[in-house]
Amino acid sequence: MTSLQRIGVVGAGLMGHGIAQVAAWPGGFDVVLHDAAPGALDAGVARIAKSLGKLVQKAVERGALEASAADATLESARARITATARFEDLAPCDLVVEAIVEDLATKRALFERLDAVCKPDAILATNTSSLPVQAMAEVTRRPSRVVGLHFFNPVQLMKLVEVVRTPATDDAVFAAARRFAEQCGKTAVACGDTPGFVVNRLLVPYLVQAMLMVDRGDATPEDIDTAMQLGAGHPMGPLTLADYVGLDTTLAILEGWRERHPDEPAFVVPECLRAQVAAGRLGRKTGQGFWRWDGDRRV
Ligand code: 3HC
Repeated sequence: MTSLQRIGVVGAGLMGHGIAQVAAWPGGFDVVLHDAAPGALDAGVARIAKSLGKLVQKAVERGALEASAADATLESARARITATARFEDLAPCDLVVEAIVEDLATKRALFERLDAVCKPDAILATNTSSLPVQAMAEVTRRPSRVVGLHFFNPVQLMKLVEVVRTPATDDAVFAAARRFAEQCGKTAVACGDTPGFVVNRLLVPYLVQAMLMVDRGDATPEDIDTAMQLGAGHPMGPLTLADYVGLDTTLAILEGWRERHPDEPAFVVPECLRAQVAAGRLGRKTGQGFWRWDGDRRV
């Protein structure tokens, strides 16, 4: 059985900071969080501290944690995470999850570097939401030890992880990756190495349809979002969700799929999405997309 103790996370951004956090608490793993950009690393650590504080406080409020244990829980969770700008610090990790930019060439280059620096039996995982895991596995000397671990945003609150295997993935590696996700407090589902896996294969075409409605003038963004919140019970309407995920990310996913699967009619790029991204309105991260945002809150 593959036993995991030390987890590496590459990229301290939106997804990476959350993965590092849940691996430390509730996961209980020692975590090496790497980002080459010191500013991004500091921002990720600050986000973790803020989120941990909030979640530990909520655990106390709902009686899941003794108030007297709150400070010690926070302290030990923080102490489990080592933030580093040095790539070589990933060397002793048993599992490394990458959460860098959603660009295949960049991810392939990273997998080559990870393969060179990590011990031979380490598992290498990608948090890609749309790229083929196989295309990263094949640049390593250990394709049987490469998996997808697709967390959702916000990682701390979303309960799912898709565990993705390629035809080369070893059964024991897949099982260890799945156990890791579960120890982080998530429910794991298994999926093959297919475009968008389960969730994004369904979710992205749904976001696209909402944007095509905007393009055609069928309904206003406000009415589309209200309709899906109140008519289908979704926590966020599709245009709010697209802003939340990032319009650049959504466009990058769609363009990659268009290129790799030109015959799939569900993969189309709406005009309004192109226009927003061209204008630098990327959603929550720039404060403006289909909606205006103040931090994590829609204005
Ligand atoms: N850490 C700790 N607490 C957090 C947090 C975080 N990262 N993010 C939000 N919270 C807290 C808020 O502060 C708030 O606390 P409060 O109750 O004390 O005020 C609480 O969680 C609830 O948040 P909000 O009041 O802002 O709003 P909601 O009740 O709507 O919950 C949500 C937020 C969980 C994000 C909910 O709106 C939701 O489930 N939205 C859909 C998200 C979704 O679909 N994600 C998947 C996107 S697709 C994806 O990730 C794939 C990718 O690969 C593209």
